[in-house]
Amino acid sequence: MKKIILICFAALVVYACKHEIIVTKTVPTNLIYVPTSSTVLLGTAGNSATPTIDNGGDAVVFSITNTTDAGISINSKTGVITWGAAVAVGTYNISVTATNSIGSTATTYVLNVNSSVTAPSSLVYNPASSTVVTGISGNSVSPSINTGGAAVTYSLTGTVPSGISINSSTGVISWTNAVAVGVYNLSVKATNNIGSVSGSYSLTVSQTQAVVTPSSFSYNPASSSITQGTAGTSATPTINNGLGTITYSLSGVVPAGVSVYSATGIISWNTSVATGTYNLTIKAANSAGSITTTYSLTVTAAPVVTGVCFSSQILPLYQSFCAQAGCHNTTSAQGGVILDSYANIMNGIRANNPGSSKYYTIIGRSMPPSTSAQMSAAQVALIKQWINEGATNTTCTASCDTTQFTYSTSISALFANNCVGCHNATTNYLGVILSDYTSAVNSIKTIGTTTFLNAINFTSATAAMNMPPSGQMSSCQITQITKWINNGYPQ
Ligand code: HEC
Repeated sequence: MKKIILICFAALVVYACKHEIIVTKTVPTNLIYVPTSSTVLLGTAGNSATPTIDNGGDAVVFSITNTTDAGISINSKTGVITWGAAVAVGTYNISVTATNSIGSTATTYVLNVNSSVTAPSSLVYNPASSTVVTGISGNSVSPSINTGGAAVTYSLTGTVPSGISINSSTGVISWTNAVAVGVYNLSVKATNNIGSVSGSYSLTVSQTQAVVTPSSFSYNPASSSITQGTAGTSATPTINNGLGTITYSLSGVVPAGVSVYSATGIISWNTSVATGTYNLTIKAANSAGSITTTYSLTVTAAPVVTGVCFSSQILPLYQSFCAQAGCHNTTSAQGGVILDSYANIMNGIRANNPGSSKYYTIIGRSMPPSTSAQMSAAQVALIKQWINEGATNTTCTASCDTTQFTYSTSISALFANNCVGCHNATTNYLGVILSDYTSAVNSIKTIGTTTFLNAINFTSATAAMNMPPSGQMSSCQITQITKWINNGYPQ
């Protein structure tokens, strides 16, 4: 216990110390008066502007650190310098120091007290130039000047380019976004009632960089070889965009199922691309022009599965004809028999020996019950063939062709394998009968194509309505059924 308290205390100290280190104060910097000087007539009280400063995260105190006229003082909190009417004629270089708890910084403020008004002098912009791109407005800093003790008026002399102007009382030069490309050496004149002074300012307006035709467009790798039925994408291409925004597109003959993302240039293909070698031409365009490159996509036929495939041909039969609710699903398990997975089905199957596989021999004898839908002779023969081939747990994509979608070529078999066990003349959940052409079409029309397609796409409002309950059919099979419905149920 003591140890724990000690550790906690140590942790607390470390934590507290860390916090103290984070809040560091530094020496103040950047003490600046704008303007940096004042010129006044004898007998004129006045004050400087408030200076700006980086206080280093701590309060600063301002003070005048050289000896000046008794009539000159500083506000210790704001740094504003004030002079009275009694200050004698002369030039006062006032040293101002700003101090915080860590250190200090200093600057000089010049006060000229004249016996009479003089012409202005020392008109300087700092910086004395700006370089900008077309279409962007802006302005110079305020100039510094010795006003000679009287108000001055600023003006631009010579030919004033259109879009450039000066503020007559502050001397700030501004330019609009309409100023044309060019280098403008501006002459500024500051005048009081005695005379004037000239200064200069240079403004360079340059063209924004022009967009040029894109170049160096390529994909790496520049090809893909895939097996039919596999969706995928290319890598992102590299390109010199010529300073423009690129839009990608496929040109020439575009095979069905292949597309390109217009913003990224990534080529994508879906599962329906037919076999073949496609030399794709991809165009990349910006506002100045375009460039093309090629990409080769080779789609080879999926290897033919020899023999009966368990996952696509046998499992759906047991699931649809036997593993229904109330019969042989995990929950009901009538007679302890569950027929919803390879492991469970193998409890009654002996590889290479159909005669002693009770989950095969019973089919058509007492199971499914005579009141339920019966497997066709072809379906029973398929189970026998699978057992004779070794009853292995093969997983494969059902050979499927989305261009084949008539009832006789594809749909009838799909329903028979996946649905008819639960949707036949005898057993027909929600009245859906899929065991013959006329009933299937009528059932779909009655329940509505949207409801039906939601069921097979697994997008029903409730999961229980997703069909078949044992798991979604392949996307190719779903496409076949969708096309069959959308094309008016071809026989
Ligand atoms: C294992 C039995 C079983 C299989 C196999 C089966 N269904 Fe169903 N089906 C049901 C049950 C049970 C319901 C009713 C669900 C409910 O009321 O919650 C149903 C309901 C439906 C509905 C109505 C859904 C709705 O939203 O109203 C459709 C359509 C349907 N099935 C189509 C099919 C299709 C197509 C197949 C084959 C691809 C199939 N079913 C396979 C048991 C099955």
